[in-house]
Amino acid sequence: MSEKVTPDYETHKEELRHRTKYPEKPLNKRLQAIVSAIPAQSKVLDVACGTGRVLHAAIDKGCRGRGIEITPGGALAAQQKGLDVLEGDVDTFDENAEVHELMFAEYDIAIFSKCLMYLKTKNQIIDQLNVDTIIVFQKCPSYWKFRLNNERAKWLEYDKEKPYRLKGGEIIAIDSPKAVARWGASYGYAYSKCLRGGFWHGSMIIKMSRIRF
Ligand SMILES: C[S@@+](CC[C@H](N)C(=O)[O-])C[C@H]1O[C@@H](n2cnc3c(N)ncnc32)[C@H](O)[C@@H]1O
Repeated sequence: MSEKVTPDYETHKEELRHRTKYPEKPLNKRLQAIVSAIPAQSKVLDVACGTGRVLHAAIDKGCRGRGIEITPGGALAAQQKGLDVLEGDVDTFDENAEVHELMFAEYDIAIFSKCLMYLKTKNQIIDQLNVDTIIVFQKCPSYWKFRLNNERAKWLEYDKEKPYRLKGGEIIAIDSPKAVARWGASYGYAYSKCLRGGFWHGSMIIKMSRIRF
């Protein structure tokens, strides 16, 4: 019996670049929690936004903003909702002026919903973003059930390929809300709050800001 092997990230990315179909899913409770944490009237950057579910809901509550998504299918679905979403690879901001302009324009808040683990330039991005507040949503490896089932390694593989580094260069494991906060703080996002999740949940939503909130 052959064992399912996680493809390396570049192989996965090549597949994403050609993905024309992207299933539309409703906003679940976790994504709703992100939307609730976005102040009305804010200018939002939704990074790797899929079909733009979060951005769309934010705009519905009076925000404006932009998104970026690598899959043609996701970007098109978002554009068909009237959203300002660029089809593009976040990691190419160094060589692609359009991506650079979108990523590092001025925003009030940037959303990284279930995508940081895919981004090899995440450390440069957080360093160069022109935003005061970031919301990160991702799985929480310290969740007791994952630990119990030894499930962590499977989806930490991409993290190993593309490590999180503190501003000083040290690699850290993002295995808890505290670790996310430490990563953010090293880039100046000194104030943070875990909005949802952690050890007792499978995922975590962390808000980090340069400004006390
Ligand atoms: C798990 S989905 C999350 C989608 C959306 N943020 C949400 O919460 O509904 C991860 C998304 O990241 C996108 N993605 C992965 N690598 C990317 C890259 N380098 N540039 C832009 N988008 C990327 C994928 O195509 C996918 O839409």
